[in-house]
Amino acid sequence: MSAPQKTYPAAPTDRIFSGVQPTGNLHLGNYLGAIRNWVRLQHDFESIYCLVDMHAITQFQDPDDLRANVREATAGLLAAGIDPKKSIVFNQSQVPAHAELAWILNCVARMGWLNRMTQFKDKAGKNREGASVGLFVYPNLMAADILLYRSTHVPVGDDQKQHLELARDIAQKFNGDYGVDFFPLPEPVINAEAARIMSLRDGTAKMSKSDLSDATRINLTDDADTIAKKIRKARTDPDALPSEVAGLADRVEARNLLTIYGALQDKTLEEVCAEFGGSTFADFKKALTEVAVGHLGPITAEMTRLTDDTTYVDSVLKDGALRARDLAAPILRDVHDIVGFLQPWGN
Ligand code: TRP
Repeated sequence: MSAPQKTYPAAPTDRIFSGVQPTGNLHLGNYLGAIRNWVRLQHDFESIYCLVDMHAITQFQDPDDLRANVREATAGLLAAGIDPKKSIVFNQSQVPAHAELAWILNCVARMGWLNRMTQFKDKAGKNREGASVGLFVYPNLMAADILLYRSTHVPVGDDQKQHLELARDIAQKFNGDYGVDFFPLPEPVINAEAARIMSLRDGTAKMSKSDLSDATRINLTDDADTIAKKIRKARTDPDALPSEVAGLADRVEARNLLTIYGALQDKTLEEVCAEFGGSTFADFKKALTEVAVGHLGPITAEMTRLTDDTTYVDSVLKDGALRARDLAAPILRDVHDIVGFLQPWGN
């Protein structure tokens, strides 16, 4: 008969983990699609928000740029309203347990599972052989990020749903292989209101920091004139605005601009259509510019101030990393115990 199973502390019930890649400008899509939601969630959950620099280097990053981008993205999160006392904010590489757990999960996840990841296929493109190994196992590191804290909830956008599913599969296989009920299966937090913001020049492509044209996005660092100019040049169609949502069928650019307006004003698309039905785009764009500048202006100003205060930003990251380490350490210890690693503290 096998020894009676050891018991481990119960997992938390309401713990959120989410991450953002510090690889360039935070933009309106990140803000309305994710960060604003993180700000809201921190009041209802114990929240851990991570600048995933270890994920970033799966594709080469200039070291100076990486440093600057981690600080700038941190400044963006704080400026948007994430409270570093309430939430834990840190950069991934300051907590080595992420890499340690990722190794163990590399041994749980199956090649076949990773071969199905669409993001790898998109990012590697035709040059699969030339992609880094890190890019291939990226989803395992993401699973480690989440499971390291036995997180229960993960706010993610559509593009990360498949990775979260994989994290659940890994948690389940780990629990099954070792006969434990250790990792909770992390649930997606779907934000029904989270706006899916598209490129200003192509309503079928997501607003993205990797788009070569800066005119396609509104960055959180853009000043009022730049925002006004980008909105003025945003692609539209020749018709007047519809007074009902049905009138937006096949008008992807119009829909995107109305969605942005609604998201910034906490209004539904129906309400925005009712408000602007019959208007020209020229008039609507003036209103949109006013709303965007009014909403983003204070965030941009605070972000700029914080970006210049690297001492403060670095102190937030350090404090966050120390708190994250404290949460992670006993969990990683239990994982070592579960898999049978002999440790100096004894088994
Ligand atoms: N892969 C995510 C992205 O590119 C970022 C990320 C890393 C993440 N680790 C995570 C998101 C854990 C949620 C949970 O957007």
